[in-house]
Amino acid sequence: MKTLKILGVCTSTRGKLSNTYHLLKTAFDHLSDEGLDKEIIVASELRLRPCDHHYSINAKMCVHPCLITRMDAEDEMKIIYDGILAADVVIFSTPIYWGNHSQLMQLIIERLNSLENANSVHHEVIVKNKIGAFMILGHEDGYQHVAGSLMNFFTEIGLIFPPQAYGAWVGESDEDTLADRNRIENDPDIKDVFIDVAQNAVNFARSILECPCGHRLDYEHVSKKKVYSFNKTNKIA
Ligand SMILES: Cc1cc2nc3c(=O)[nH]c(=O)nc-3n(C[C@H](O)[C@H](O)[C@H](O)COP(=O)(O)O)c2cc1C
Repeated sequence: MKTLKILGVCTSTRGKLSNTYHLLKTAFDHLSDEGLDKEIIVASELRLRPCDHHYSINAKMCVHPCLITRMDAEDEMKIIYDGILAADVVIFSTPIYWGNHSQLMQLIIERLNSLENANSVHHEVIVKNKIGAFMILGHEDGYQHVAGSLMNFFTEIGLIFPPQAYGAWVGESDEDTLADRNRIENDPDIKDVFIDVAQNAVNFARSILECPCGHRLDYEHVSKKKVYSFNKTNKIA
């Protein structure tokens, strides 16, 4: 059995104390060690500069590796870039804040624009043959909106989604967040939601990435959609 690399990225600013980390870690601990190389990046422990939004000046300036990564040795986004590029399965976990994913998740998405821009502007498909999934946690509601936003972005950078690509749980919307913590630590049904997401992503990766005959999926999507409008306006040729 080929070893698959699975990467989890926790995007709560509360880091290892957070509920999203707890459930991500619980899920990863339940995955068999056999044939799996597991890594969790706690994004709040990294020095991550916000995106400089060079894309908005000139789309061609948004390159991979990103200009911040090239010029600022203090910035640690490279750990996330390299982690994603080395992984077969990538799972992001995020809390819900006022109906949206975390600020840190948004910062990472904007920095990952360099990988999406590689597709849409530079026509170089960098992210391919990788499975994506999400873990979303809140106290009241909003997880379908968050899932939609995340799936929208991550399909654009090139991740492939299994059926039911995200797991979510929200508490009782009663301001008793302490009870949330007790429940996620002790309720096996809640843990199972997140364990299933990770296991499902790994099972799907095993089913589609590597055939028992040894052939490995090598699918590169066509990514020239924006060429048409650029050519029409002749703005960035
Ligand atoms: C500023 C703020 C806004 C929040 N907004 C929402 C929300 O819109 N929907 C929801 O379900 N939970 C909301 N919550 C609750 C958190 O998502 C919840 O406590 C979650 O477990 C925190 O995850 P963490 O421990 O991983 O940081 C909010 C929490 C904070 C601090």
